[in-house]
Amino acid sequence: MTKYVINGGKRLNGEVTISGAKNAAVAIIPAALLVDGSCRIENVPKIIDVTLQMEILRELGVSVRLLNATTVELDGECVQDAKVPYELMRKIRASYYLIGALLGKYHHAEVAMPGGCNFGGIRPIDQHIKGFEALGATVSIREGGFIHADAPNGLTGAHIYFDVVSVGATINIMLAAVLAKGMTIIENAAKEPHIVDLANFLNAMGADVKGAGTDVIKIRGVERLHGGTYSIIPDQIEAGTFMAAVAACGGQALIKNVIPKHLECITCKLAEMGVEITEFDDAVLVSRMGKLLKTNIKTLPYPGFPTDMQPQMTTALCLAEGTSIITEGVWDNRYRYTEELARMGANIHVDGKIAVVEGVSELTAAPVRAYDLRAGAAMVIAGLAAKGTTQVEQVTNIERGYENLVEKFVGLGADMFRAEIPDSDSATMPVAK
Ligand code: EPU
Repeated sequence: MTKYVINGGKRLNGEVTISGAKNAAVAIIPAALLVDGSCRIENVPKIIDVTLQMEILRELGVSVRLLNATTVELDGECVQDAKVPYELMRKIRASYYLIGALLGKYHHAEVAMPGGCNFGGIRPIDQHIKGFEALGATVSIREGGFIHADAPNGLTGAHIYFDVVSVGATINIMLAAVLAKGMTIIENAAKEPHIVDLANFLNAMGADVKGAGTDVIKIRGVERLHGGTYSIIPDQIEAGTFMAAVAACGGQALIKNVIPKHLECITCKLAEMGVEITEFDDAVLVSRMGKLLKTNIKTLPYPGFPTDMQPQMTTALCLAEGTSIITEGVWDNRYRYTEELARMGANIHVDGKIAVVEGVSELTAAPVRAYDLRAGAAMVIAGLAAKGTTQVEQVTNIERGYENLVEKFVGLGADMFRAEIPDSDSATMPVAK
Protein backbone atom coordinates (compact mmCIF):
# COMPACT_ATOMS: atom_id res chain seq x y z
CA MET A 1 0.00 0.00 0.00
CA THR A 2 1.31 3.46 -0.86
CA LYS A 3 1.83 5.65 2.20
CA TYR A 4 3.38 8.98 2.95
CA VAL A 5 6.20 8.78 5.47
CA ILE A 6 6.76 12.11 7.20
CA ASN A 7 9.63 12.91 9.53
CA GLY A 8 8.00 15.91 11.16
CA GLY A 9 8.94 18.75 13.43
CA LYS A 10 10.62 20.96 10.80
CA ARG A 11 9.71 24.52 9.88
CA LEU A 12 8.61 25.11 6.29
CA ASN A 13 10.57 27.66 4.26
CA GLY A 14 10.77 28.49 0.57
CA GLU A 15 8.39 28.80 -2.37
CA VAL A 16 5.58 26.70 -3.74
CA THR A 17 3.53 27.10 -6.95
CA ILE A 18 -0.18 26.34 -6.79
CA SER A 19 -1.83 24.22 -9.51
CA GLY A 20 -5.12 24.75 -11.32
CA ALA A 21 -8.29 24.50 -9.22
CA LYS A 22 -9.67 20.95 -8.88
CA ASN A 23 -13.27 22.01 -8.39
CA ALA A 24 -13.13 24.32 -11.42
CA ALA A 25 -11.41 21.69 -13.59
CA VAL A 26 -13.99 18.99 -12.80
CA ALA A 27 -16.76 21.37 -13.93
CA ILE A 28 -14.99 22.79 -17.00
CA ILE A 29 -13.84 19.45 -18.45
CA PRO A 30 -17.40 18.05 -18.82
CA ALA A 31 -18.52 21.48 -20.06
CA ALA A 32 -16.39 20.78 -23.13
CA LEU A 33 -19.12 18.32 -24.18
CA LEU A 34 -21.37 21.31 -24.88
CA VAL A 35 -18.95 22.83 -27.36
CA ASP A 36 -19.08 22.32 -31.15
CA GLY A 37 -15.44 21.88 -32.11
CA SER A 38 -12.41 21.61 -29.91
CA CYS A 39 -11.47 23.58 -26.85
CA ARG A 40 -8.07 23.92 -25.28
CA ILE A 41 -7.97 24.05 -21.50
CA GLU A 42 -4.83 25.29 -19.75
CA ASN A 43 -3.65 25.09 -16.12
CA VAL A 44 -5.33 21.69 -15.69
CA PRO A 45 -4.20 20.05 -12.42
CA LYS A 46 -2.59 16.58 -12.64
CA ILE A 47 -4.82 14.83 -10.11
CA ILE A 48 -6.70 11.55 -10.05
CA ASP A 49 -10.16 13.16 -10.30
CA VAL A 50 -9.19 14.93 -13.53
CA THR A 51 -7.63 11.79 -15.00
CA LEU A 52 -10.83 9.87 -14.23
CA GLN A 53 -12.98 12.52 -15.83
CA MET A 54 -10.87 12.43 -18.97
CA GLU A 55 -11.25 8.63 -19.03
CA ILE A 56 -15.02 9.04 -18.80
CA LEU A 57 -15.00 11.56 -21.66
CA ARG A 58 -12.90 9.17 -23.79
CA GLU A 59 -15.41 6.38 -23.09
CA LEU A 60 -18.14 8.68 -24.40
CA GLY A 61 -16.18 9.22 -27.61
CA VAL A 62 -14.61 12.61 -26.86
CA SER A 63 -11.15 13.14 -28.34
CA VAL A 64 -8.86 13.98 -25.41
CA ARG A 65 -5.32 15.14 -26.32
CA LEU A 66 -2.73 16.16 -23.74
CA LEU A 67 -0.75 18.98 -25.37
CA ASN A 68 1.62 19.37 -22.43
CA ALA A 69 1.65 18.64 -18.70
CA THR A 70 -1.11 21.14 -17.93
CA THR A 71 -2.92 21.68 -21.24
CA VAL A 72 -5.56 19.43 -22.72
CA GLU A 73 -7.51 19.67 -25.97
CA LEU A 74 -11.01 18.23 -25.90
CA ASP A 75 -13.22 17.67 -28.90
CA GLY A 76 -16.71 16.40 -28.19
CA GLU A 77 -18.03 16.30 -31.76
CA CYS A 78 -17.76 12.48 -31.92
CA VAL A 79 -19.85 11.63 -28.85
CA GLN A 80 -21.93 8.56 -29.69
CA ASP A 81 -23.40 7.57 -26.40
CA ALA A 82 -24.92 9.52 -23.53
CA LYS A 83 -24.49 6.58 -21.13
CA VAL A 84 -21.61 6.84 -18.69
CA PRO A 85 -20.05 3.58 -17.41
CA TYR A 86 -20.71 2.75 -13.76
CA GLU A 87 -17.19 1.61 -12.87
CA LEU A 88 -15.69 5.03 -13.66
CA MET A 89 -18.57 7.09 -12.35
CA ARG A 90 -18.63 5.63 -8.90
CA LYS A 91 -15.04 6.73 -8.30
CA ILE A 92 -15.67 10.45 -8.67
CA ARG A 93 -18.40 12.65 -7.33
CA ALA A 94 -18.09 15.43 -9.89
CA SER A 95 -19.01 12.94 -12.60
CA TYR A 96 -22.59 14.08 -12.00
CA TYR A 97 -21.77 17.20 -14.03
CA LEU A 98 -22.07 14.90 -17.03
CA ILE A 99 -25.83 14.84 -16.43
CA GLY A 100 -26.09 18.61 -16.96
CA ALA A 101 -23.69 18.62 -19.90
CA LEU A 102 -25.22 15.59 -21.72
CA LEU A 103 -28.78 16.72 -21.05
CA GLY A 104 -27.94 20.23 -22.28
CA LYS A 105 -26.32 19.00 -25.49
CA TYR A 106 -28.07 15.70 -26.32
CA HIS A 107 -31.30 16.04 -24.28
CA HIS A 108 -30.60 12.65 -22.75
CA ALA A 109 -28.24 11.40 -20.04
CA GLU A 110 -27.76 8.06 -18.31
CA VAL A 111 -25.26 8.47 -15.54
CA ALA A 112 -24.52 6.23 -12.54
CA MET A 113 -25.00 7.81 -9.10
CA PRO A 114 -21.75 9.54 -8.14
CA GLY A 115 -19.02 8.44 -5.75
CA GLY A 116 -16.25 10.72 -4.45
CA CYS A 117 -15.38 11.99 -0.98
CA ASN A 118 -17.25 10.19 1.75
CA PHE A 119 -17.51 12.22 4.92
CA GLY A 120 -19.74 9.57 6.47
CA GLY A 121 -23.02 11.32 5.66
CA ILE A 122 -25.50 11.40 2.79
CA ARG A 123 -24.72 13.73 -0.11
CA PRO A 124 -28.13 14.43 -1.68
CA ILE A 125 -28.72 15.65 -5.25
CA ASP A 126 -32.36 16.69 -4.87
CA GLN A 127 -31.60 20.29 -5.89
CA HIS A 128 -29.91 19.13 -9.12
CA ILE A 129 -32.99 17.05 -9.96
CA LYS A 130 -35.34 19.92 -9.07
CA GLY A 131 -33.40 22.17 -11.47
CA PHE A 132 -33.37 19.66 -14.36
CA GLU A 133 -37.11 19.10 -13.95
CA ALA A 134 -37.76 22.86 -13.94
CA LEU A 135 -35.94 23.02 -17.30
CA GLY A 136 -38.39 20.40 -18.64
CA ALA A 137 -36.47 17.15 -18.15
CA THR A 138 -37.90 13.93 -16.77
CA VAL A 139 -35.53 12.48 -14.21
CA SER A 140 -35.68 9.00 -12.72
CA ILE A 141 -33.38 6.74 -10.78
CA ARG A 142 -33.41 3.25 -12.28
CA GLU A 143 -31.96 -0.18 -11.76
CA GLY A 144 -28.25 -0.30 -11.04
CA GLY A 145 -28.23 3.18 -9.51
CA PHE A 146 -28.44 4.97 -12.87
CA ILE A 147 -29.94 8.43 -13.15
CA HIS A 148 -31.89 8.85 -16.40
CA ALA A 149 -32.62 12.40 -17.50
CA ASP A 150 -34.59 13.03 -20.69
CA ALA A 151 -35.96 16.04 -22.51
CA PRO A 152 -36.94 14.77 -26.00
CA ASN A 153 -38.15 18.23 -27.05
CA GLY A 154 -35.15 20.03 -25.61
CA LEU A 155 -34.82 22.13 -22.45
CA THR A 156 -36.58 25.43 -21.86
CA GLY A 157 -35.26 28.19 -19.61
CA ALA A 158 -36.93 28.50 -16.19
CA HIS A 159 -36.82 30.41 -12.92
CA ILE A 160 -35.18 28.12 -10.35
CA TYR A 161 -34.88 28.77 -6.63
CA PHE A 162 -32.49 26.48 -4.74
CA ASP A 163 -33.58 25.57 -1.20
CA VAL A 164 -29.93 25.21 -0.17
CA VAL A 165 -26.86 26.87 -1.59
CA SER A 166 -25.26 24.08 -3.60
CA VAL A 167 -22.09 24.32 -5.67
CA GLY A 168 -22.92 21.14 -7.56
CA ALA A 169 -26.53 22.03 -8.33
CA THR A 170 -25.55 25.54 -9.47
CA ILE A 171 -22.93 24.11 -11.85
CA ASN A 172 -25.16 21.34 -13.16
CA ILE A 173 -28.00 23.75 -13.98
CA MET A 174 -25.59 26.19 -15.63
CA LEU A 175 -24.36 23.33 -17.84
CA ALA A 176 -27.89 22.23 -18.73
CA ALA A 177 -29.18 25.77 -19.36
CA VAL A 178 -26.56 27.31 -21.67
CA LEU A 179 -28.09 25.66 -24.75
CA ALA A 180 -31.73 25.70 -23.51
CA LYS A 181 -34.42 27.81 -25.23
CA GLY A 182 -34.84 31.18 -23.51
CA MET A 183 -33.73 32.52 -20.16
CA THR A 184 -32.87 30.57 -17.01
CA ILE A 185 -32.60 32.41 -13.69
CA ILE A 186 -30.95 30.61 -10.78
CA GLU A 187 -31.79 32.16 -7.40
CA ASN A 188 -29.81 31.36 -4.24
CA ALA A 189 -26.91 30.26 -6.44
CA ALA A 190 -23.52 29.30 -5.04
CA LYS A 191 -20.84 32.03 -5.43
CA GLU A 192 -17.58 30.06 -5.20
CA PRO A 193 -14.67 31.10 -7.44
CA HIS A 194 -15.12 27.90 -9.47
CA ILE A 195 -18.70 28.94 -10.33
CA VAL A 196 -17.33 32.17 -11.77
CA ASP A 197 -14.60 30.24 -13.56
CA LEU A 198 -17.14 27.93 -15.20
CA ALA A 199 -19.22 30.95 -16.28
CA ASN A 200 -16.10 32.58 -17.75
CA PHE A 201 -15.26 29.38 -19.62
CA LEU A 202 -18.79 29.06 -21.02
CA ASN A 203 -18.88 32.74 -22.02
CA ALA A 204 -15.47 32.39 -23.72
CA MET A 205 -17.07 29.60 -25.82
CA GLY A 206 -20.03 31.82 -26.79
CA ALA A 207 -22.51 31.33 -23.92
CA ASP A 208 -24.47 34.18 -22.33
CA VAL A 209 -24.11 33.77 -18.55
CA LYS A 210 -24.42 36.82 -16.29
CA GLY A 211 -24.25 37.28 -12.53
CA ALA A 212 -21.92 34.38 -11.63
CA GLY A 213 -20.33 35.25 -8.29
CA THR A 214 -23.62 36.72 -7.02
CA ASP A 215 -26.60 34.74 -5.78
CA VAL A 216 -28.61 35.32 -8.96
CA ILE A 217 -27.25 33.85 -12.20
CA LYS A 218 -28.99 34.61 -15.49
CA ILE A 219 -28.36 32.34 -18.45
CA ARG A 220 -29.76 33.23 -21.86
CA GLY A 221 -29.69 30.09 -23.97
CA VAL A 222 -27.66 30.24 -27.20
CA GLU A 223 -27.87 28.03 -30.33
CA ARG A 224 -24.37 26.64 -30.04
CA LEU A 225 -21.03 27.03 -28.29
CA HIS A 226 -17.83 27.34 -30.31
CA GLY A 227 -14.30 26.18 -29.51
CA GLY A 228 -11.62 28.30 -27.88
CA THR A 229 -8.87 28.43 -25.28
CA TYR A 230 -9.33 28.90 -21.55
CA SER A 231 -7.05 28.83 -18.51
CA ILE A 232 -8.37 27.45 -15.19
CA ILE A 233 -7.97 29.58 -12.03
CA PRO A 234 -5.47 28.57 -9.32
CA ASP A 235 -6.72 26.27 -6.55
CA GLN A 236 -7.92 28.29 -3.55
CA ILE A 237 -7.98 25.22 -1.28
CA GLU A 238 -4.55 23.94 -2.30
CA ALA A 239 -3.14 27.41 -1.52
CA GLY A 240 -5.01 27.46 1.80
CA THR A 241 -3.63 24.02 2.66
CA PHE A 242 -0.04 25.28 2.30
CA MET A 243 -0.93 28.40 4.33
CA ALA A 244 -2.35 26.24 7.14
CA ALA A 245 0.74 24.01 7.00
CA VAL A 246 3.04 27.02 7.50
CA ALA A 247 0.82 28.12 10.39
CA ALA A 248 1.10 24.67 12.01
CA CYS A 249 4.83 24.12 11.42
CA GLY A 250 6.16 27.70 11.59
CA GLY A 251 8.49 29.21 8.97
CA GLN A 252 7.94 31.41 5.92
CA ALA A 253 6.67 30.47 2.47
CA LEU A 254 5.91 32.36 -0.71
CA ILE A 255 2.82 30.78 -2.21
CA LYS A 256 2.80 31.59 -5.92
CA ASN A 257 0.14 31.47 -8.65
CA VAL A 258 -2.80 32.41 -6.43
CA ILE A 259 -5.62 34.96 -6.58
CA PRO A 260 -5.24 36.67 -3.15
CA LYS A 261 -8.88 37.84 -3.24
CA HIS A 262 -10.03 34.18 -3.22
CA LEU A 263 -7.91 33.55 -0.12
CA GLU A 264 -9.24 36.45 1.99
CA CYS A 265 -11.46 34.29 4.22
CA ILE A 266 -8.45 32.09 5.01
CA THR A 267 -6.03 35.03 5.31
CA CYS A 268 -8.27 36.79 7.87
CA LYS A 269 -8.49 33.70 10.10
CA LEU A 270 -4.75 33.04 9.91
CA ALA A 271 -4.07 36.68 10.85
CA GLU A 272 -6.24 36.21 13.96
CA MET A 273 -4.05 33.19 14.75
CA GLY A 274 -0.88 35.33 14.71
CA VAL A 275 0.24 34.40 11.18
CA GLU A 276 1.63 37.27 9.06
CA ILE A 277 0.42 37.43 5.48
CA THR A 278 1.59 39.81 2.78
CA GLU A 279 -0.39 39.89 -0.44
CA PHE A 280 1.18 40.44 -3.85
CA ASP A 281 -0.53 40.48 -7.26
CA ASP A 282 -0.47 36.71 -7.71
CA ALA A 283 1.28 35.44 -4.59
CA VAL A 284 1.03 35.53 -0.80
CA LEU A 285 3.93 35.47 1.67
CA VAL A 286 2.95 33.52 4.78
CA SER A 287 5.07 33.73 7.88
CA ARG A 288 4.67 32.28 11.37
CA MET A 289 7.58 32.97 13.69
CA GLY A 290 5.86 33.39 17.08
CA LYS A 291 3.14 31.57 18.96
CA LEU A 292 -0.04 30.35 17.28
CA LEU A 293 -3.20 31.81 18.81
CA LYS A 294 -6.69 30.36 19.17
CA THR A 295 -9.61 31.46 17.03
CA ASN A 296 -13.17 30.39 16.21
CA ILE A 297 -14.19 29.28 12.72
CA LYS A 298 -17.59 28.69 11.16
CA THR A 299 -17.68 27.22 7.68
CA LEU A 300 -20.22 28.66 5.24
CA PRO A 301 -20.73 28.86 1.47
CA TYR A 302 -18.39 31.38 -0.24
CA PRO A 303 -17.49 34.09 0.68
CA GLY A 304 -17.73 32.44 4.09
CA PHE A 305 -14.92 30.27 5.40
CA PRO A 306 -14.60 27.20 3.11
CA THR A 307 -15.59 23.82 4.53
CA ASP A 308 -12.81 22.33 2.39
CA MET A 309 -10.30 24.16 4.65
CA GLN A 310 -11.91 23.07 7.92
CA PRO A 311 -9.79 19.93 8.61
CA GLN A 312 -6.49 21.70 7.78
CA MET A 313 -7.28 24.72 10.00
CA THR A 314 -8.56 22.55 12.84
CA THR A 315 -5.24 20.70 12.69
CA ALA A 316 -3.26 23.94 12.95
CA LEU A 317 -5.49 25.07 15.85
CA CYS A 318 -4.58 21.87 17.75
CA LEU A 319 -1.23 23.60 18.28
CA ALA A 320 -2.58 27.07 19.17
CA GLU A 321 -2.64 28.52 22.67
CA GLY A 322 -6.12 28.36 24.17
CA THR A 323 -9.49 26.93 23.16
CA SER A 324 -10.85 27.23 19.60
CA ILE A 325 -14.39 26.45 18.52
CA ILE A 326 -15.03 25.14 15.01
CA THR A 327 -18.57 25.01 13.60
CA GLU A 328 -19.19 23.05 10.40
CA GLY A 329 -21.92 24.94 8.58
CA VAL A 330 -22.00 23.08 5.25
CA TRP A 331 -21.76 19.31 5.81
CA ASP A 332 -23.48 17.24 8.50
CA ASN A 333 -20.50 15.08 9.25
CA ARG A 334 -16.96 16.20 8.50
CA TYR A 335 -15.04 15.47 11.70
CA ARG A 336 -14.10 11.81 11.31
CA TYR A 337 -10.43 12.79 10.92
CA THR A 338 -10.39 14.20 14.47
CA GLU A 339 -10.18 10.60 15.76
CA GLU A 340 -6.86 10.35 13.95
CA LEU A 341 -5.66 13.69 15.35
CA ALA A 342 -6.58 12.51 18.85
CA ARG A 343 -4.25 9.54 18.30
CA MET A 344 -1.47 12.09 17.69
CA GLY A 345 -2.13 13.80 21.00
CA ALA A 346 -4.64 16.47 19.93
CA ASN A 347 -7.31 17.46 22.43
CA ILE A 348 -10.56 17.73 20.44
CA HIS A 349 -14.16 17.14 21.49
CA VAL A 350 -16.78 16.86 18.76
CA ASP A 351 -20.49 17.30 19.34
CA GLY A 352 -22.51 17.23 16.14
CA LYS A 353 -21.39 20.13 13.98
CA ILE A 354 -19.13 21.67 16.66
CA ALA A 355 -15.55 20.77 17.52
CA VAL A 356 -13.87 22.24 20.60
CA VAL A 357 -10.10 22.23 20.29
CA GLU A 358 -7.92 22.72 23.38
CA GLY A 359 -4.47 23.64 22.08
CA VAL A 360 -1.59 21.32 23.03
CA SER A 361 2.12 22.16 22.93
CA GLU A 362 2.97 19.37 20.48
CA LEU A 363 1.59 16.51 18.42
CA THR A 364 3.28 13.12 18.36
CA ALA A 365 3.71 10.90 15.31
CA ALA A 366 1.39 7.97 14.69
CA PRO A 367 0.15 5.87 11.77
CA VAL A 368 -2.97 7.66 10.51
CA ARG A 369 -5.51 7.36 7.70
CA ALA A 370 -6.56 9.84 5.04
CA TYR A 371 -10.28 9.21 5.30
CA ASP A 372 -11.04 11.68 2.52
CA LEU A 373 -9.27 14.35 0.47
CA ARG A 374 -9.17 17.24 2.96
CA ALA A 375 -8.92 14.91 5.97
CA GLY A 376 -5.85 13.51 4.23
CA ALA A 377 -4.36 17.00 3.78
CA ALA A 378 -4.96 17.56 7.49
CA MET A 379 -3.08 14.33 8.33
CA VAL A 380 -0.12 15.51 6.25
CA ILE A 381 -0.10 18.85 8.11
CA ALA A 382 -0.31 17.04 11.45
CA GLY A 383 2.55 14.75 10.42
CA LEU A 384 4.69 17.68 9.29
CA ALA A 385 4.13 19.47 12.60
CA ALA A 386 4.50 16.40 14.85
CA LYS A 387 7.71 15.13 16.38
CA GLY A 388 8.72 11.72 15.04
CA THR A 389 7.73 9.70 11.98
CA THR A 390 4.11 9.67 10.85
CA GLN A 391 2.79 7.31 8.20
CA VAL A 392 -0.30 8.42 6.30
CA GLU A 393 -2.35 5.61 4.74
CA GLN A 394 -4.98 5.73 1.96
CA VAL A 395 -3.12 8.49 0.14
CA THR A 396 -5.11 7.89 -3.05
CA ASN A 397 -7.75 10.01 -1.34
CA ILE A 398 -5.21 12.85 -1.17
CA GLU A 399 -3.97 12.41 -4.72
CA ARG A 400 -7.55 12.69 -6.00
CA GLY A 401 -7.22 16.42 -5.47
CA TYR A 402 -3.62 17.51 -4.76
CA GLU A 403 -0.98 17.58 -7.50
CA ASN A 404 2.51 16.53 -6.38
CA LEU A 405 1.77 17.27 -2.73
CA VAL A 406 4.84 15.39 -1.50
CA GLU A 407 7.22 17.11 -3.95
CA LYS A 408 5.76 20.51 -3.11
CA PHE A 409 6.22 20.05 0.65
CA VAL A 410 9.74 18.68 0.09
CA GLY A 411 10.41 21.90 -1.85
CA LEU A 412 9.51 23.78 1.34
CA GLY A 413 12.08 21.77 3.32
CA ALA A 414 9.78 19.00 4.61
CA ASP A 415 11.28 15.55 5.14
CA MET A 416 8.62 13.29 3.62
CA PHE A 417 8.38 10.69 0.88
CA ARG A 418 6.02 8.17 -0.73
CA ALA A 419 6.72 4.55 0.04
CA GLU A 420 5.19 1.16 -0.74
CA ILE A 421 4.76 -0.34 2.71
CA PRO A 422 2.70 -3.42 3.43
CA ASP A 423 0.19 -2.80 6.23
CA SER A 424 1.76 -5.40 8.47
CA ASP A 425 5.12 -3.62 8.32
CA SER A 426 3.92 -0.47 10.09
CA ALA A 427 6.15 -1.30 13.04
CA THR A 428 9.28 -1.39 10.90
CA MET A 429 8.57 1.69 8.85
CA PRO A 430 11.47 3.51 7.20
CA VAL A 431 12.46 6.74 8.94
CA ALA A 432 14.80 8.34 6.42
CA LYS A 433 14.78 9.17 2.71
N1 EPU B 1 -27.21 19.67 -0.74
C1 EPU B 1 -28.53 19.30 -0.70
N2 EPU B 1 -29.12 18.95 -1.90
C2 EPU B 1 -28.45 18.95 -3.08
C3 EPU B 1 -27.10 19.34 -3.10
C4 EPU B 1 -26.49 19.71 -1.92
O1 EPU B 1 -29.15 19.27 0.34
O2 EPU B 1 -29.06 18.63 -4.11
C5 EPU B 1 -26.54 20.07 0.52
C6 EPU B 1 -25.38 19.15 0.88
O3 EPU B 1 -25.82 18.01 1.60
C7 EPU B 1 -24.49 20.06 1.67
C8 EPU B 1 -24.72 21.44 1.05
O4 EPU B 1 -25.93 21.34 0.32
O5 EPU B 1 -24.93 20.10 3.01
C9 EPU B 1 -23.63 21.90 0.11
O6 EPU B 1 -23.38 20.91 -0.88
P1 EPU B 1 -22.83 21.28 -2.35
O7 EPU B 1 -23.82 20.79 -3.34
O8 EPU B 1 -22.44 22.71 -2.38
O9 EPU B 1 -21.53 20.36 -2.43
P2 EPU B 1 -20.97 19.59 -3.70
O10 EPU B 1 -21.26 20.35 -4.94
O11 EPU B 1 -21.36 18.17 -3.64
C10 EPU B 1 -18.70 20.86 -3.74
C11 EPU B 1 -17.26 20.48 -3.70
C12 EPU B 1 -16.91 20.00 -2.30
C13 EPU B 1 -17.25 21.09 -1.29
C14 EPU B 1 -18.70 21.54 -1.45
C15 EPU B 1 -19.05 22.74 -0.57
C16 EPU B 1 -16.83 19.79 -5.95
C17 EPU B 1 -16.54 18.69 -6.88
N3 EPU B 1 -17.00 19.46 -4.68
O12 EPU B 1 -19.42 19.67 -3.42
O13 EPU B 1 -15.52 19.81 -2.32
O14 EPU B 1 -17.04 20.60 0.02
O15 EPU B 1 -18.95 21.92 -2.81
O16 EPU B 1 -18.22 23.82 -0.87
O17 EPU B 1 -16.87 20.96 -6.32
C18 EPU B 1 -13.47 18.88 -1.73
O18 EPU B 1 -12.95 19.52 -2.68
O19 EPU B 1 -12.80 18.30 -0.83
C19 EPU B 1 -14.91 18.80 -1.65
C20 EPU B 1 -15.55 17.88 -0.95
